[in-house]
Amino acid sequence: MKRKFYRKSLPLTLGMVCAVLLIGCLVVNFGSAQQSKDPLTGNWAVRNPNADGTSRNTYFNLKQEGGRITGSIRVTQFYYLITESTGDAAGFTIIATMKDGKTDRRVQYEGKLLGDELQLTTRRRPTDNPTALVAHRAPAGEGALPARIDPPALHNVKDNGLARTPPMGWNSWNKFAGRVDDATVRSIADALASNGMKEAGYRYVNIDDTWEGGRDAQSNIQTNKKFPDMKALADYVHSKGLKLGIYSSPGPNTCAGYEGSYGHELQDARTYAAWGIDYLKYDWCGARTLYTDEEMPAIYQKMGDALLASGRPIVYSLCQYGRLDVWKWGPDVGGNLWRTTGDIRDTWDSMTRIGFGQNELAQWARPSHWNDPDMLEIGNGGMTETEYKTHMSLWAMLAAPLLAGNDLRSMTPPTLAILTNGEVIAVDQDKLGKQGKQVWKSGDHEIWTRPLSGGATAVAVFNRGKDETKVTVKWADLGIVKRKAARDLWLSQDVDVQSPEYIATVPGHGVVMLRVR
Ligand code: GLA
Repeated sequence: MKRKFYRKSLPLTLGMVCAVLLIGCLVVNFGSAQQSKDPLTGNWAVRNPNADGTSRNTYFNLKQEGGRITGSIRVTQFYYLITESTGDAAGFTIIATMKDGKTDRRVQYEGKLLGDELQLTTRRRPTDNPTALVAHRAPAGEGALPARIDPPALHNVKDNGLARTPPMGWNSWNKFAGRVDDATVRSIADALASNGMKEAGYRYVNIDDTWEGGRDAQSNIQTNKKFPDMKALADYVHSKGLKLGIYSSPGPNTCAGYEGSYGHELQDARTYAAWGIDYLKYDWCGARTLYTDEEMPAIYQKMGDALLASGRPIVYSLCQYGRLDVWKWGPDVGGNLWRTTGDIRDTWDSMTRIGFGQNELAQWARPSHWNDPDMLEIGNGGMTETEYKTHMSLWAMLAAPLLAGNDLRSMTPPTLAILTNGEVIAVDQDKLGKQGKQVWKSGDHEIWTRPLSGGATAVAVFNRGKDETKVTVKWADLGIVKRKAARDLWLSQDVDVQSPEYIATVPGHGVVMLRVR
C-alpha cells in the first residue's frame, strides 16, 4: 500500500518541485528587474550600535514607482508614512508624517543611492545642520511594526494602597540618561544610604530608560550589558534599606528606542517581581505608533492589572506627559502617580513653566494618587542655589514626588542641604495629601498655600522676578485667621505672626516658605 503511494506520488512531487523552482526564479527575476528599474524599492536599515550591546536602528521601507516613492520610516518610538516625494535613486526628497495625539509629526530626508548604500541627510529643524546617515539593505520584514493588539475593555483596577505620601527617591535620567549602569546605581544607592537622604525619607533608586536588552527564546525581557544581573542589583539596593525602580513602555519601543513591554505586559511584570523591583515608570513612547491617545487608559490598565497580578507591591508611575487629562483616569488604571507635563529641563524657564502650571490640578491629588510635575533638577548646575530652593519649595507645595535627578555621589553641601531640608520635606509628605494652590498673584509675585494636617498651613511667597522684593502677606486674605506661630522653613527660625500682616523679603527668583500653626 505504502510502496504504491510512493511510486505514484514521486513524479508528481518532482513536478511540483520544478514548478515551485520555476515560479521562484520568475519572482526573483521579476524582483531584480524591478530592483534595477526602481532600485530604491526594499527595506533599508541605518544601524547605530549602542555601547551596551543593543543597536538603535532606523528602517526605511520603500516602494519606488519611477519618480514616486511611498512606504514608511520607523525610528526609535516613531513610525512615519511617506506622504510626499520627489526625485529618484540619483537624488530624492521624501517627507513622512505621523499623527501623535494632537501633534502632527513630520520628518524630511534627502537621499541618493550610491552602489548598495543609501546615503541620506535629515535635519531636526529646518535651521539645523543636516545629519548624515547611511542605510543598507535589510531583510524584508525586519523592523516592521508589530501587529496591533486591540486594547482591553475598561474596568477599575484595585488600588494597591502604595505611595500614601508622594514617592521620594532618585532617578537616573536627568543626570545620566543613557549612561546609567549597574555600578552607577550601586554607588548612588551607597551615597543615598549614607549622606542623610535616606533619613530624610528618600527610598527609591530608580533606573530609567536604557537598561533593556532584547528578549530570550521564551520572550523574557533581558537586560543589556550595562546591567549584568538585575536580581543581584535589587538585592544590593534592598540590603541598604532602599527600594529599586525600573522603567518600560507599553509600546514596542521606549523613548530611547529600547525594548518595550508591548504584548508582554504580564510576563514583564512577573519578571520585575522576580527581580525584586518596587517601582515601575511606564512611558508611553513607542505606544504612539499603534494607539491613539483615547486608548491610553486601556493600555495603562493592562500594566496596572499585570503589576497587581505579579503579587509584589510595585508603585505604578504613569508617564504620558499629561495627555488626555490623565489625572482624571490615572487612579482607575492603578496609577500611583502620573506625569502632568513634558520633560523638565535644568533651567529656570522650564522648571517654573512646569511648576507654576500645576495650579488647576490640585483637586486630583490625594494619598496614593499624585500629580507628577517630573523629577528634580536640583544640583544639576543649570540654576542657582536660590532657584533650586524655589524648585524644592514649589514641588513640596504641589505634593509632588521628590525624585532627585542629580549625581548624589558628588553634590555640593548646599545641594544636599536643599534636598534634605526636613521641614520642607514634611510639607511635601504631609499626610493630609492635599496639593497647594495659588491664592494671590501680582505681577511676578505669587503666594501659594497648602492645607496641612493638624490645621496647619504651608505658605510660599514666590518672587518670579529678577530683583529682591518685599511682599506683604495679609493673613486674612489667605484665610488664615487664627495663628499661634509660624516658622520660616529655609531660615529655620520662628516668625512672629501676631500682627495682621507679615512682610516677606524675597530674593529674585526666590521664595519665603512658612509653616503656620
Ligand atoms: C521620556 C520621559 C523621560 C525619560 C525619557 C527616557 O522622555 O518623559 O522622563 O524617561 O523618556 O527615554
